[in-house]
Amino acid sequence: MKKLTFNNGDKIDAIGLGTWKSDPGKVGEAVKAALKVGYRHIDCAAVYGNEKEVGSALKESFSAYDINREDVWITSKLWNTAHKPEDVKPALKQTLSDLQLETLDLYLIHWPIAFKPILEGFPQSDSDYLSLDEVPLIETWEAMLEAKNEGLIKHAGVSNFSIKKLKDLSSKTDHAPEMNQIELHPYLQQWDMLDYCSDNNILVTAYSPLGSSDRPDVLKADDEPSLLENEVIHNIANKHDATPAQVLIKWAVERDTTVIPKSTNAGRIEENLKSAELNLDDEDMSKIKSLDIPYRYLDGKVFETESDMYRDIFDEQG
Ligand code: A2P
Repeated sequence: MKKLTFNNGDKIDAIGLGTWKSDPGKVGEAVKAALKVGYRHIDCAAVYGNEKEVGSALKESFSAYDINREDVWITSKLWNTAHKPEDVKPALKQTLSDLQLETLDLYLIHWPIAFKPILEGFPQSDSDYLSLDEVPLIETWEAMLEAKNEGLIKHAGVSNFSIKKLKDLSSKTDHAPEMNQIELHPYLQQWDMLDYCSDNNILVTAYSPLGSSDRPDVLKADDEPSLLENEVIHNIANKHDATPAQVLIKWAVERDTTVIPKSTNAGRIEENLKSAELNLDDEDMSKIKSLDIPYRYLDGKVFETESDMYRDIFDEQG
C-alpha cells in the first residue's frame, strides 16, 4: 500500500475507509470488515453521528485481529458548532471518548464555517451562524495546535479550505495545516490546489472519490453527472479487468492524494482496497484528465445565508 509522509516522518496509507453516510447499525461492521482485510486508515467525523459505533468496532477489531492501535491511522473532524477556542478541546474529548481512543492521528477543522455552539442540526437562517469575524479561523486553529501540544492529536489540518483560506491561515501561524481534505475526483480535479499544497508541504485527502451518490437529497442536484457510470472510466476498468470504483480510487492514489471511499458493503470494501494493485498507464491518466468539468457535488449551497456570509467559499480567488 502506498503511503504519504508527513513532515515529521509519520506515514498515512493512501487508501482509507470513509464513514460519512455510513448508517448507524452498519458502520461498525464496515470498520471491522475493513480492518480485517487490511485497511489501516479510517476517516471519521463527529457530525457523521456514528463515532460511538466506530469506536466499539475499533476496540473489537484491535483485539480480534491482533492489530496495534499505533498501526491504524484515525482521523476525525471538529464540527462547525465548536469553532470557539474554548469549545475545541471539549469537542475533541467527546470524539476521543466516542472512538475509545487516547489520541487521534489527525484532527481537521471540518469546514471554514462557524455555527452557533447551541445549534443542533443545520442552520435555518443567518442567526444560526457566527461570522468569521466573530470566530476567526486562526483562533480555532491555535486551539487545534494547543491540543496537538498536549498530545491529544498527532497532526492538525483542515477540510474544505480554498487556496485563499490556506494562504490566509498559513500567513498567521508558524504551524500551517498539515492536511486539507477536499472533494476531488475526475470531474473536479483541482490541479491548482494540488500544486499549492505540494509546494507548501500540505497533504491532500480526496473525499467523494466515487461521487457520493448516497448523499441525502438536500445535498443533491437533479442532473448530476455520474462518475461510476462514466464511459471513459468504464472502458479503462474493462481494459484492466478492474471495476470503475477501482479506477477512480487508483487515479486518486496516482495523484499522490490519500482517498477515502465509503462503503458499508464487505465485498465493495475489499474491492476498493484492492484498487492498490491496479496499474493505470499514462494513456489512462491522460484520458481521465480530460474529464475535468469542473463539477462539485458538495457545492456548499447548504451554507448559503441571507447575508451571503459564506458565499463563494470554494471559489474565492487570491
Ligand atoms: P455502499 O456503501 O453500498 O458500498 P463516496 O465514497 O464517493 O462517498 O461514495 C460512496 C457511495 O459509493 C456509496 O453509495 C457506496 O455504496 C458506493 N460504493 C462504494 N464502493 C463502491 C464500489 N466498489 N462499487 C460501486 N459503488 C460503491
